[in-house]
Amino acid sequence: MLQLDEVHTYYGDSHVLQGVNLEVARGSVVALLGQNGMGKTTTIHSIIGFTPPARGKIIFKGINISGLPPSSIALMGMALVPQGRRIFRSLTVRENLILGYRKTKTDKTAYDLERVYELFPSLKLRSANRGEQLSGGEQQMLAIGRALLTNPDFILMDEPFEGLAPGISKELRQKVLELKKSGMSILLVEQNIEAALQLADYVYIMSKGKIVHGGSAAQLQGEKDIIKRFILL
Ligand SMILES: Nc1ncnc2c1ncn2[C@@H]1O[C@H](COP(=O)(O)OP(=O)(O)OP(=O)(O)O)[C@@H](O)[C@H]1O
Ligand SMILES: [Mg+2]
Repeated sequence: MLQLDEVHTYYGDSHVLQGVNLEVARGSVVALLGQNGMGKTTTIHSIIGFTPPARGKIIFKGINISGLPPSSIALMGMALVPQGRRIFRSLTVRENLILGYRKTKTDKTAYDLERVYELFPSLKLRSANRGEQLSGGEQQMLAIGRALLTNPDFILMDEPFEGLAPGISKELRQKVLELKKSGMSILLVEQNIEAALQLADYVYIMSKGKIVHGGSAAQLQGEKDIIKRFILL
């Protein structure tokens, strides 16, 4: 589905991504784990085209997308659930959801408003409320629902459980597992080792703009001390 090959990204003179290599197989969930400021969001923004890489290739469904505008990349079937949710606070839940609606599939796996409301019944109840009236958890549901309504086959999720109470965080992790079961490919940015190991098939650890370690979740399950050491590199 996605492959990054020696990706280098800069902000001005600041060399943030220093040769990132990673892969997401079709139908898998891959976690990108790392501390604050290590380059996780920059990786996500390089993939979707907000901060195009200066060097390296980003191959999505067999096509080199590095340098393409975000709008073209989105049309190829990629969606973003951005860090901090970024919903429209003055628009209603329904308006937020239908803004990006794209009917690209006709089968029953396609997402429409009703199907998103089935996945997140609280959004249906809050349909006429404005974004700013929602709880953090509901805002995150809205950000995920909005991404699903573009009918993507690949979703970038940047710390979707950040700042949520444990109960709602658990509920949302369950929803991500449901998406995984439905065959969705996901690149999940996380700071939490347990969430990464629970949800992902494969985990990469990022430190200072580089991937410093990687392994299948099963393989890393018994190596939490090692993961912590790599995270602190
Ligand atoms: N727009 C920007 N201009 C300049 N430097 C930036 C910009 N955005 C991020 N950086 C720097 O790039 C580095 C990587 O930031 P990035 O946001 O990718 O980290 P992150 O791993 O997502 O962190 P967090 O977990 O806190 O979200 C940091 O040193 C950050 O200060
Ligand atoms: Mg970030």
